Amino acid sequence: MMQQFVDRENELEALERAWKSEGPEMIVIYGRRRVGKTALALRFIEGKPAVYFLADERGEENLREFRRKIAQFFGDPVLERSDLGWLELFEYLARKGEKLVVVIDELPYIVEHDGAFPSVLQKAWDSHLQGSPLKLVLVGSSIGMMEDLLGYKSPLYGRRTMQIELKPLRYWHVREFLPSYSEEDLMRVYGAVDGIPLYLRQFRDELSFWENLKNLMLRKESFLYAEAEFLLRQEFREPARYFAILRAISLGKTRHGEIVDYTGFDRGVVSKYLDNLARIGVIRKVYPAFEPEKRRNMRYEMADNYYAFWFRFVYPNRELVERELYGEALKIVRRDYDHYMGRVLEKASLDFLWKRFAFERAGRWWGKREEIDIVGLKGGTAHFFEVKWKELKEREARGILKDLERKAELVSKLKDLPRRFGLVARRIEGKERLADEGYLVFDLKDMFKP
Ligand SMILES: Nc1ncnc2c1ncn2[C@@H]1O[C@H](COP(=O)(O)OP(=O)(O)OP(=O)(O)O)[C@@H](O)[C@H]1O
Ligand SMILES: [Mg+2]
Repeated sequence: MMQQFVDRENELEALERAWKSEGPEMIVIYGRRRVGKTALALRFIEGKPAVYFLADERGEENLREFRRKIAQFFGDPVLERSDLGWLELFEYLARKGEKLVVVIDELPYIVEHDGAFPSVLQKAWDSHLQGSPLKLVLVGSSIGMMEDLLGYKSPLYGRRTMQIELKPLRYWHVREFLPSYSEEDLMRVYGAVDGIPLYLRQFRDELSFWENLKNLMLRKESFLYAEAEFLLRQEFREPARYFAILRAISLGKTRHGEIVDYTGFDRGVVSKYLDNLARIGVIRKVYPAFEPEKRRNMRYEMADNYYAFWFRFVYPNRELVERELYGEALKIVRRDYDHYMGRVLEKASLDFLWKRFAFERAGRWWGKREEIDIVGLKGGTAHFFEVKWKELKEREARGILKDLERKAELVSKLKDLPRRFGLVARRIEGKERLADEGYLVFDLKDMFKP
């Protein structure tokens, strides 16, 4: 298959700016596993003088390997045979005074082995690198540790010149991986693996969505079948309770109390586990838009569709998969997939509408009993949207819009503003007529228009 590189235009632009600057840079790239951090760093250094170093679990060996890489770059056999430490190596780099990029990938491995590394780096920066043109790029997958490294307690705080939290690709980029897929199937793919490039690459354009899904997720030897569990086991030594909590969230139990009830764990335990899951970016805390961020308003949601899919469909059907009853497993997924896609389309619609309207603020709103899928504020006008993974008849669409007008009254913060109402759905009959009447109506085709 074609090895094309998708998007990351903003990130590459920022990195190029850093490359062109006069002074030294300390750039931090972090984000979820598999999101494309290494690929981005490699893309950036293409055609530039650069040293790429990938740290691993071998402890001491990292320093030797790093030294070897620097020595090779400068063709310096004396350095290679030396026993210079990290600090001296950075001093060496500074003394060379050459403009080059040094990438340290999987930085957390170094810090794990050598807790003093951040202080060493700080010292190197303060006493040697300051006046040099060195572009240092620090990459790491452990969101928790990378955020600690950026935090004010870290010696590196205030030294970094740029940080990039790399996010999954937006839904519209899925098309670049599967050019012959229909908009509906592209959205279904997004629902299963989000915008994670490594996962998107596994899908084969010549196979149907369901065929791909079965091969990639529901077979016991397949990579994505094992991936979620593999990643969680890497983060947590005792994952069983995390699994129970994630299962609860994937079933729509998104309040703290509901998760406590579902799992039967202590309130305090649940809080601690939820915090840990949020820290590594598997879930996130959300508050209703245009309401105060109070604890009792808070909900939890899966941070990306891959985990959401896995806990919704793979985890509860592992027995079937282990027994190689793949067709049966697929049947269950097919039966419930439309229902599952509701939230997926909501998430995609939020990205779509942000891009379309450049809101000042937007998000899901909910109150005691009611919910509005998307509320956005733009130039003093409130925008209200419902999102439906359905093919709507004109009459249904009107009914939904009418009800939306009623619910909009409940958003007290936006009460006195001029307002627009809209709808996003798979397909909408009478779309033009509704648009003529001033409604903002979009279907999947609109969502994938460039
Ligand atoms: N922008 C992109 N366009 C196309 N493919 C990409 C892109 N980014 C990453 N990939 C593909 O996804 C794979 C995984 O990406 P990469 O190894 O960069 O992720 P990572 O964030 O470094 O993951 P890890 O946390 O596991 O180190 C790459 O091998 C590459 O094939
Ligand atoms: Mg990587």
